[in-house]
Amino acid sequence: MKGQFPIEKFGALQTPFYYYDTQLLRQTLSIIRAEIGKIDNAVEHYAVKANANQQVLRIIREYGLGADCVSGGEIKAALQAGFSPDKIVFAGVGKADWEINLGLEHDIFCFNVESIPELEIINELAAAKGVVAKVEFRVNPDVKAHTHTNITTGLAENKFGISLNDVERVIAMAQQMQHVKFIGLHFHIGSQILDMGDFAALCNRVNELLTQFEKHHIQVENINVGGGLGIDYQHPNRQSIPDFCEYFKTFNSLIKRRDGQMLHFELGRAVVAQCGTLISKVLYVKQGTNKQFAILDAGMTDLIRPALYQAYHKIENISSELPVETYDVVGPICESSDVFGKAVDLNKVQRGDLLAIRSAGAYGEIMASQYNCRELPRSYTTEDLL
Ligand code: LLP
Repeated sequence: MKGQFPIEKFGALQTPFYYYDTQLLRQTLSIIRAEIGKIDNAVEHYAVKANANQQVLRIIREYGLGADCVSGGEIKAALQAGFSPDKIVFAGVGKADWEINLGLEHDIFCFNVESIPELEIINELAAAKGVVAKVEFRVNPDVKAHTHTNITTGLAENKFGISLNDVERVIAMAQQMQHVKFIGLHFHIGSQILDMGDFAALCNRVNELLTQFEKHHIQVENINVGGGLGIDYQHPNRQSIPDFCEYFKTFNSLIKRRDGQMLHFELGRAVVAQCGTLISKVLYVKQGTNKQFAILDAGMTDLIRPALYQAYHKIENISSELPVETYDVVGPICESSDVFGKAVDLNKVQRGDLLAIRSAGAYGEIMASQYNCRELPRSYTTEDLL
């Protein structure tokens, strides 16, 4: 063991690979279950987009969470992992007909609808099957989240959701349709949000809408506030389990729910990020001008977040106790942006050392690609390596 890693077991495995600490995942899920259990009528639907690894999904399902899916592929992955269809919600701005049909065939909990044309198609496809689709409308709340611009979603300029001004008209349309049933509202303001004030702003918006709808006798059975709770990328060991208590409490205390209204959450990153680590081997240490490079066998094809969002992931040399030196840590891909970190302090690096790229359980393995004809990374859990 070095730190939390069974490094003696890693030696035999082909790198790069994702390592999932299932003990931490289970602890995280126990806390989510306990915290959400303190709130009446509340459900967490894990956002499958963060990590659809079957072993990870199965553990999440064991703890009673539902699944938030954004494609037919994710619905299939959730069903394969044993999620019950009545705990599956299906979002996304561009649902294809086959994906809608898949949702209808399994009678999923609801479709989170993002436009009038989509509503019309769902109604049509449900009519063809002689069923009624439950729909929530995703409202674009025009609330700014303080996070990377590529991952804010709740501003009027973003492509997501139905604008505040249109939503009442759209509900009225749905109420005229025979094969859809309006059951609630859906929101999501962005991802990697650490400022509870952003969520409080969303709660205010939800309250305004509930008051407006009440005046017009529109019943809202379900309020889905999306996901977005951030994690501590700088210090993965300091707070390896995010503050779910504070997060759930913010919504529960600020949203003025009417009798029987259900509250839904769709956390992804906060559930799985800290339990995943990308393990990579150092191929070469190269002297550059005024710097040295640690060249890894993992690249942006295995973990794209640093290249795509300039995201920080803590890097550790888990093979060395030698004095610290400074490196640019890079991958082998033919792109200048294939860099995991610049001027990173690591215990002296030698060829063959294993480096751990931390907090990679969310939006890591699932965003891997085969660019440069590379193989997809493998994955192992704590249990696989016992
Ligand atoms: N619900 C909806 C409607 C979403 O769009 C998302 C994420 C979530 C829930 C889950 O959000 P979370 O709890 O994970 O923040 N690839 C980016 C993140 C993209 C997030 C997209 N939507 C990254 O690596 O940071």
